[in-house]
Amino acid sequence: MRPLGRCPSAQGRAGTAMWLVDLFAGAGLLSYAFRTRGFEISMAVESDARAASTYRRNLGNHVICADVRRIAPRGHCDVLVGGPPCQGFSTLGKRHPADPRNQLALEFVRWAAALQPRCVVVENVEPFVRAPVWRRMATGLRDLGYTVTTYSLNAADFGAAQRRHRSFTIASTTPHISIRPQPEYRQRTVREAWAGLPATPDGSNWHYSPLPSLVARNRMRLIPPGGSKRDLMNIAPELCPPSWWRRRVELTDVWGRLRWDKPSNTVRTCCNNASKGRYIHPEQDRVISLREAARLQSIPDEFAFDGYPIDVARQIGNGVPPAVGCAVAAGVAAALSR
Ligand SMILES: C[S@@+](CC[C@H](N)C(=O)[O-])C[C@H]1O[C@@H](n2cnc3c(N)ncnc32)[C@H](O)[C@@H]1O
Repeated sequence: MRPLGRCPSAQGRAGTAMWLVDLFAGAGLLSYAFRTRGFEISMAVESDARAASTYRRNLGNHVICADVRRIAPRGHCDVLVGGPPCQGFSTLGKRHPADPRNQLALEFVRWAAALQPRCVVVENVEPFVRAPVWRRMATGLRDLGYTVTTYSLNAADFGAAQRRHRSFTIASTTPHISIRPQPEYRQRTVREAWAGLPATPDGSNWHYSPLPSLVARNRMRLIPPGGSKRDLMNIAPELCPPSWWRRRVELTDVWGRLRWDKPSNTVRTCCNNASKGRYIHPEQDRVISLREAARLQSIPDEFAFDGYPIDVARQIGNGVPPAVGCAVAAGVAAALSR
């Protein structure tokens, strides 16, 4: 996959470089997108050591491995960005309003009050913007003088071969600016996203997929393209554990097989596990490789990862697809340079 390239420095009104601070930075995919669109990054914070190591390797030493709540805001900052943990809001999580992780979103108010950026961008799952903590965050940002707008963007509309709907909350000091990234590309397919990769994972550059167990392979063999666990329950109930019938609420795409000629479903943090979603290869009896997952997230092959496969899957699934991040960064740069 072609690297996304780097634009000349994004410039503010006075023609000076625009600086970014990234909170909950993960592996750095949102930072990567802003850097690709010409921003300089002064500071990033991430609490997971392996994600921070991936960040450092691709983007530089400015990342601090720490709990955002425990450090004093610092860094040259025109734009404050970040994707706080989504488990308390996600339809896949327990969605507990009392989940202590939900309060982390309020860190954007604390950091914005201290650093006074011209713009704040917060990415999360769509239910985030309906959560009580979002209202507290938005009120806090408005009290600081920002105008707050939300967008729901589908990665498939921006060049990623993946249906992934995420909310972007954008707070800006310039009233009435509209930051609405326009879809730049037609929808891409799984086949297009994987063009040029060896058909069989060769282990290089995270083109790695675990060998399925015998029972997993027997299940996968019977699942048609676009099919899932539901097909298996009809065709081969003897291969299905009793728990599959006991559970009433279930993900429809569990043990799902991708289709070549469509975008993938959302790539999540366990994208190397067939029992967690639609991650079976369109024709081979294996889960997708980590590099295939990265391609579906529009992550260029030049982006390196640190950690074990479970960490890398998390870093990939947690990340903002660079194709989306670049569109958001371009919209922010255009608005702030006016
Ligand atoms: C959704 S991911 C962010 C992904 C990132 N925006 C990207 O595009 O790659 C959220 C990250 O927040 C980190 N995190 C969770 N709690 C944190 C805390 N208290 N302080 C710093 N980072 C934290 C997690 O380890 C995770 O990597």
